[in-house]
Amino acid sequence: MKPLENKIALVTGAARGIGRAIAVQLAADGADVALCDVKADWLEETAAAVRDLGRRAECYAMDVADGAAVGAAVARAAADFGRLDILVNNAGITRDTLLIRMSEEDWDRVLDINLKGAFLVTKAAAKLMMKQRAGSIVNIASVVGLMGNAGQANYTASKAGLIALTKTAAKELGSRNIRVNAVAPGFIRTAMTDQLSEAAKDAMLRLVPLGRPGEPEDVARAVAFLASDNAAYVNGQVLTVCGGMVM
Ligand code: NAI
Repeated sequence: MKPLENKIALVTGAARGIGRAIAVQLAADGADVALCDVKADWLEETAAAVRDLGRRAECYAMDVADGAAVGAAVARAAADFGRLDILVNNAGITRDTLLIRMSEEDWDRVLDINLKGAFLVTKAAAKLMMKQRAGSIVNIASVVGLMGNAGQANYTASKAGLIALTKTAAKELGSRNIRVNAVAPGFIRTAMTDQLSEAAKDAMLRLVPLGRPGEPEDVARAVAFLASDNAAYVNGQVLTVCGGMVM
């Protein structure tokens, strides 16, 4: 039997990058997947990959920063699939610049999506999981939420906040048999990191003992572990997937 056989998972930001890899890995491990993204039309490719693995995929338009949209999408997914076992809060953005140049709008947008978004989706999903008295939530944080990073005041604050949210949710929901953990990726090859200059990429890579960037699948395998019963006694933890960048 596969580790996630017949589990139902919901993944935000599933259209591309790490979210897409997570959805495909969860399906490979036996889960059916509710795919959510603000770019709903991009989700079909992920859905096709999930269906190719013999699992069910349904797509939902969801801006995680919009409470009404989150509530509606989670309710539709729960009705379509009948339950919800796993939530992965993966949707995230960057708007990088030095703190003294950062606009209030760029601060708010990154905090709204990366931190408030995770709160809103967790709240909606946790209500279902509490009734089921079971669930696993995995938040995609970042190593920079642990170490800080010049040029990312908004992003690092959002990811540090997400780590604190992970621990608080783990404390509040543990008695209902709902585990909440975070994965903190390092430098992973996606469209998000493609935007970085070659100099910035080289500087990041010099910090990685393994000497290579990670792939979305490296993150996805860690998420699948935390989502599964193999991690049944792992709760409130931050698993770094960064080639040793942070120890
Ligand atoms: P990406 O930009 O390739 O994918 C992000 C996905 O989230 C996209 O499909 C996008 O449409 C979706 N999204 C953006 N705003 C949204 C919103 N308001 N509501 C719903 N969906 C929304 O990014 P990537 O690299 O795959 O990142 C995924 C997560 O991993 C993010 O939370 C990011 O902060 C985190 N991360 C990425 C690292 C990297 O090196 N790529 C390192 C550490 C963390």
